[in-house]
Amino acid sequence: MESRNPTDATQLQEFEARIARGEKIEPGDWMPDEYRRQLIRMISQHAHSEVVGMLPEGAWITRAPNLRRKLVLLAKVQDEAGHGQYLYHAAETLGISREEMLALLLSGKAKYASVFNYPTLTWADNGVIGWLVDGAAIKNQTMLAHASYGPYSRAMVRICAEEGFHMKQGKEMVIMYAQGTPGQQAMVQDAINRWWWPALMMFGLPDDTSPNSEVLMRWGIKTKSNDTLRQEFVNEMVPEIHALGLTVPDPDLRYDEASGNWRYGAIDWDEFWQVVRGNGPCNAERLAARRQAHEDGAWVREAVAAYADKRAAGLVV
Ligand code: 3HC
Repeated sequence: MESRNPTDATQLQEFEARIARGEKIEPGDWMPDEYRRQLIRMISQHAHSEVVGMLPEGAWITRAPNLRRKLVLLAKVQDEAGHGQYLYHAAETLGISREEMLALLLSGKAKYASVFNYPTLTWADNGVIGWLVDGAAIKNQTMLAHASYGPYSRAMVRICAEEGFHMKQGKEMVIMYAQGTPGQQAMVQDAINRWWWPALMMFGLPDDTSPNSEVLMRWGIKTKSNDTLRQEFVNEMVPEIHALGLTVPDPDLRYDEASGNWRYGAIDWDEFWQVVRGNGPCNAERLAARRQAHEDGAWVREAVAAYADKRAAGLVV
């Protein structure tokens, strides 16, 4: 709840004037508590999504069909780790510590993109994830590159450049399998059938039910609504999927001449909330993997802390 201090009222007025002028808000600037809370919420969950998002594709690095695919997938998964670091750093500028954020993730309290709680059943999933999931992420992140909070918008510029490679390598795989053997065509169509709807969920709740969208738009954290981005994504992807002779798993999908939009069917928000609340196909596996990785890395954290103590005591340079 915002304080009623008159000074704050003046500061809020100046803050909103800065947003209206398109200025970037920086870590040391005055900002409403709710602005800070929203950014910590969004950026920390984004960082968790990047780190958990390494797991579905990471499972296939040792099973890539050839060295080239292995190298590309390895590079992509490593990129996601780096994106997580940028974003954790951006969140730290708002006053939350890395330890707090990781504790929330490892305890199961923190959200991350629900899409990563689905299994990668065949190699084609890696192509479809690159094309659809990273494609949806780019759509969202390109918008976030204009966010009013400086550290977040700058992190997005760097991340979007790398996501472009992720999407292209995924699309190359999908094109190859769509033009491949009947077995490859069936494998890539099956992957699209399983990843299409979870990719649409990545854009968040519908505008009329999102509890966050209004304030995010008012203060320039977002410059486009969840539904606007989702519709742009559908309009771009459907013709490309059709051009490959593949289908979209939506019997209600139809082109609306008047608006130029591809009207899509109802998203299963019950499924969405089931997955977000921890009951998805892979939630337990994903959290277990993150907890194990955190445990396995404890010795590195301890060594760095010991060195920092010795350095502070002047015992080492
Ligand atoms: N998965 C999990 N939780 C979701 C979600 C999703 N796909 N969509 C919404 N939610 C959650 C929200 O976090 C919110 O919960 P909270 O208030 O407890 O945080 C609740 O559902 C209501 O949703 P809203 O639509 O009101 O939330 P937002 O307006 O914040 O929209 C969002 C959700 C689109 C994810 C937005 O937070 C956002 O743009 N975040 C930054 C981008 C991001 O996190 N992207 C993750 C993509 S994965 C990725 O980039 C990895 C890449 O390599 C593919």
